[in-house]
Amino acid sequence: METRFFGTREEDIQHAAEIIRQGGLVAFPTETVYGLGADALNPDAVAKVYAAKGRPSDNPMIVHISSKNDLDRLTIEITEEMKKLADAFWPGPLTMVVPARPVIPKVTTGGLDTVAVRMPSDSVAANLITAAGVPIAAPSANLSGRPSPTSARHVMDDLDGRIDAIIEGDDCRVGIESTVVDMTGNVPVVLRPGIITPEQLSRVLGKTVELDPVLRTRPEIKRGQELLETTENFKPKSPGMKYKHYAPKAEMVIYKGDRDKVLLAITEEKFRRTECGQKVEIIMFDDDEPEIAAREFFAKLRACDKAEVDVILAAALKEDGVGFSVMNRMFKSAGYNIVEV
Ligand code: TXA
Ligand code: MG
Repeated sequence: METRFFGTREEDIQHAAEIIRQGGLVAFPTETVYGLGADALNPDAVAKVYAAKGRPSDNPMIVHISSKNDLDRLTIEITEEMKKLADAFWPGPLTMVVPARPVIPKVTTGGLDTVAVRMPSDSVAANLITAAGVPIAAPSANLSGRPSPTSARHVMDDLDGRIDAIIEGDDCRVGIESTVVDMTGNVPVVLRPGIITPEQLSRVLGKTVELDPVLRTRPEIKRGQELLETTENFKPKSPGMKYKHYAPKAEMVIYKGDRDKVLLAITEEKFRRTECGQKVEIIMFDDDEPEIAAREFFAKLRACDKAEVDVILAAALKEDGVGFSVMNRMFKSAGYNIVEV
């Protein structure tokens, strides 16, 4: 398939929107990561998304809307709490899991009776959804298992020739995927941490939002294994959390502990590995600016792949606030290969 490339002008967006309406696949920028969009209400179109990404079909899509009013088309009942979160964080990097209306195809929800909904703040994304006139199902626009794409270049590297079109916009500001919060129970539960933290959600709702306990556990995983073991203490509610994710081609080791000790351990290991003829790259972000780590992490992994690095030695960030969300991705990228110092 020949992939078409569009810019972000009005006429480009109109062409891209027409492709979506016709049941085609268009990758587009959002503030978090690039998405691979299809008409969420067209089961054949959504099935093509799974095929293009090589994605397991029990892993549901996030449905993107461009107006808060559209939430109503996707769910039966909008609670006060959903309204509060939408008012505080939409448009923006928050996804709410809500009861699904039957019009939403099962292929979109991965067979669940809930649907994940997000209203992105990126203007290109918003214009595309509005122009298409349909809600857009969009997972991250990467091949399944690879780091999420934060630039149009990353999308091309993975999906050129596999999808109908790519809208070439700016690099993504946030850099990690949206916070996913399950609104279907008595207490909202964060299923995937993002730039919007549970503390921020709790403040708006005036009650404690919980973290899916699975986010605090580390599964046993062997290198090269695609599916994480579902054990007694590892039963993710969000289907996507059980697949191996974000893996660079290189071996990756995370060093966790006091920063001085981490720096020393990494320096020594880099020396040892270099002596053995390996190409080594270090990933070390400022602990006090986790937002920068979020923005740059996936791009760094992809840069290591391009440079054919053999091993990535990474320093863990403090696991609070946005640092916790970045570490959620970093642990997965490394296949939970962690050295405590
Ligand atoms: O920032 C983002 O959310 C990006 C951009 C493109 O908007 N999209 C994204 O989609 O990250 P994806 O498909 O890569 O991740 C969707 C996550 C998966 O972990 C999936 O299992 C979960 O959301 N999810 C989707 N629907 C769900 C549902 N009904 N219940 C629980 N989890 C759900
Ligand atoms: Mg993804």
